[in-house]
Amino acid sequence: MAKLAINGGPNTINRPLGVAWPEFGAPEEEALLDVLHSHIWWRGGYQEAKDSWVGKFENAFSEYQGVKYAVAVTNGTQAIECALKTIGIKPGDEVICPASTFVATATAVILVNAIPVIVDIEPEYYQIDPDAVEAAITPRTAGIIPVHYAGYPADMDRINAIAKKHGLFVVEDACHAHGTQWKGQGCGSLGDIGCFSLQMGKGLTCGEGGIVTTQDEQLAQKAYSFHHIGRLSGRPFYEHHIVASNLRMTEWQGAIAYQQTKRLPEQIQRRTANAMYFETGLREIPGVEPMPRRPEMTRWGCYFYHFKFKSDEFEGLSLQRFKEAMAAEGLPLRSGHLHPIQKNPLFVNRNFGPVCWPAGVDAPDYAQVETPVADRILAEEGCSLSHHTLLGDRSDMDLMLDAIRKVRENVAELM
Ligand SMILES: Cc1ncc(COP(=O)(O)O)c(C=O)c1O
Repeated sequence: MAKLAINGGPNTINRPLGVAWPEFGAPEEEALLDVLHSHIWWRGGYQEAKDSWVGKFENAFSEYQGVKYAVAVTNGTQAIECALKTIGIKPGDEVICPASTFVATATAVILVNAIPVIVDIEPEYYQIDPDAVEAAITPRTAGIIPVHYAGYPADMDRINAIAKKHGLFVVEDACHAHGTQWKGQGCGSLGDIGCFSLQMGKGLTCGEGGIVTTQDEQLAQKAYSFHHIGRLSGRPFYEHHIVASNLRMTEWQGAIAYQQTKRLPEQIQRRTANAMYFETGLREIPGVEPMPRRPEMTRWGCYFYHFKFKSDEFEGLSLQRFKEAMAAEGLPLRSGHLHPIQKNPLFVNRNFGPVCWPAGVDAPDYAQVETPVADRILAEEGCSLSHHTLLGDRSDMDLMLDAIRKVRENVAELM
């Protein structure tokens, strides 16, 4: 008689796991009502920007992340655009990005008239491969966007060393990495500028939102101007110095983002403790293993929790069949952002919109860009869980392990 749910047996998990995300309570309700009754629904209504909810959020987040300056913006995509403009990107500049990320890492580059050069990832940690970065450098290369993919850090020592050697900027896409630290320093403080998303699924959210961070006062002032229609702080309101958009975060978002930032340290501890427990069980099941954590990662703002499926230790089962069986058991496993971005129609069909690249400069033929490591990981290995699955209690971890163990023990049913 079949035991596996995919073959008609009982499933292992038939209740929701983790928590309903985002978590909220009285602090968020009170903050929203405070905005409502204040009649100040944007931060410009405050004499002192630091007294606004957006200002309080910027201070709280930059303090937790260990970065000197922060400018809250509308979303993560525009945080990257703002960072690239702030750093002085020029039309036709090449910017090196990893294949395994959300497409906005690279489309933000196109949106500022530069050219993303997409490179492969490291097989072990799924982060941008520094060797591939170095191999992709040309006379047109202006910068690198390492993504702290899934909330694990990219190899910032090597990325920064490469950038220094070749005179390149580093804009960190830290959209997954709220809280993550590399050798005690927060992501977003390691390169020239950092960019975070506060979109609803992220480990810190206010529905939609973003934040740009930097250690450099001048860059912070420029980012402020780029997010505020070219205004300069301390100058008259109707004096505009550069052509720039309005990327301002509202007080509604600021109020929620501030209260959520206060929750972040405890949530990170809870996720990390659950992940450690889960991994102890995972290591005992043949054919699955946790993604290793770099020793340099001193705090883990997990976004996607990744583990690896090893077909050869799972009686040759395919990843797809494993995921189907797991979904039937009640634990749908995802692939995070492992789909190589250059395979999107926008790259393959060169639907770049109205770009203005200098004469004679063109984007690569993305259909020919090969990223074999990213391809293999997507097809054969990568399994992800959302971060809020790790916010529940130990019984959730036990149920997930039971489901994986059951599929492993009954793998013959799937052959
Ligand atoms: C790595 C990465 N970069 C950039 C973004 C864009 O952020 P947003 O959705 O806030 O524009 C995202 C969002 O998913 C992301 O995951």
